[in-house]
Amino acid sequence: MSAAGLVVVRDVAALRAAIAARQDARPGSVGLVPTMGALHEGHLTLVTHARAVCAVVVASVFVNPTQFNDPRDLAAYPRTEAADLALLEAAGCDIAFVPAPSALYPAGFATHVEVSGLTEVLEGALRPGHFRGVATVVTLLLRAARPTHAFFGEKDWQQLQVIRRLAADLLLDVTIVPVPTVRDAHGLALSSRNARLDATARAQARALPRAIVAAQRAFAAGERRAEALEAMLQASFAQEPAVRVDYALVAHGETLRPVDVADATTRVLLAAHVQGVRLIDNAALGERIDLGTGGD
Ligand code: PAJ
Repeated sequence: MSAAGLVVVRDVAALRAAIAARQDARPGSVGLVPTMGALHEGHLTLVTHARAVCAVVVASVFVNPTQFNDPRDLAAYPRTEAADLALLEAAGCDIAFVPAPSALYPAGFATHVEVSGLTEVLEGALRPGHFRGVATVVTLLLRAARPTHAFFGEKDWQQLQVIRRLAADLLLDVTIVPVPTVRDAHGLALSSRNARLDATARAQARALPRAIVAAQRAFAAGERRAEALEAMLQASFAQEPAVRVDYALVAHGETLRPVDVADATTRVLLAAHVQGVRLIDNAALGERIDLGTGGD
């Protein structure tokens, strides 16, 4: 599909020119896949979804400084541009937008996007300023590329809800397309951070999908009380003491508010530390994560 090859652009004017040129050859919808690079199958599935829906596919690779509340985390974030570009090209992406920070945040930049409510719980409560940085950069990326569709992973469920809210509230005229989480053979959600797990930690990290499945099984067996389902998450984590839990909750899938009585769309949301690496995961109670052979 990308017979013309991947075009790499580094500022907004070049991005818009590249999109216009591709649209001359292939009129129709424009899909944007925002990423911070260090790409894996989870990111590439977003590109595949975009390729299936849109005439022109743009991916951004930008480690956004404003969403890191810890400067060490920003400094440690993996940067693998050459490999990322090769993967994007192979996945059929048309245009890679790879701006320097000054291309999105020029001198004098002073405007931020704050989504209230949704950002005050879960990740937002533990990472002050994180979602303000995400909302601001996603708004900038959407205005830079002006896509008809933008693709986000369900892996970052709270982020997806925040972006849906901001796109609706700010009349951004873009369809936000959610893409299911890609997992490994044991159910562990793919993440750039998994690269920092050794074999022991990787095995311990399976406690996250295992806890979700414990709740999903109980739900399938008829349990509807949120309190009981949360107790089940805690009991499941208690079997892997090496994992330190930040939160393990069930919440309304869209508002992220606590519920008393669960239904199939109620979301299990987890964050936990495994040997110094912080991982997040989530799924609906009505789904069933495949734990492969490692499950039982
Ligand atoms: P990043 O962590 O690079 O993730 C980019 C996109 O890939 C997000 O939409 C994320 O949900 C999705 N993704 C990551 N792992 C996935 C998996 N295992 N399965 C499916 N999708 C997965 O999220 C960000 O970057 C940033 O916050 C960003 C939105 C780019 C703003 O800076």
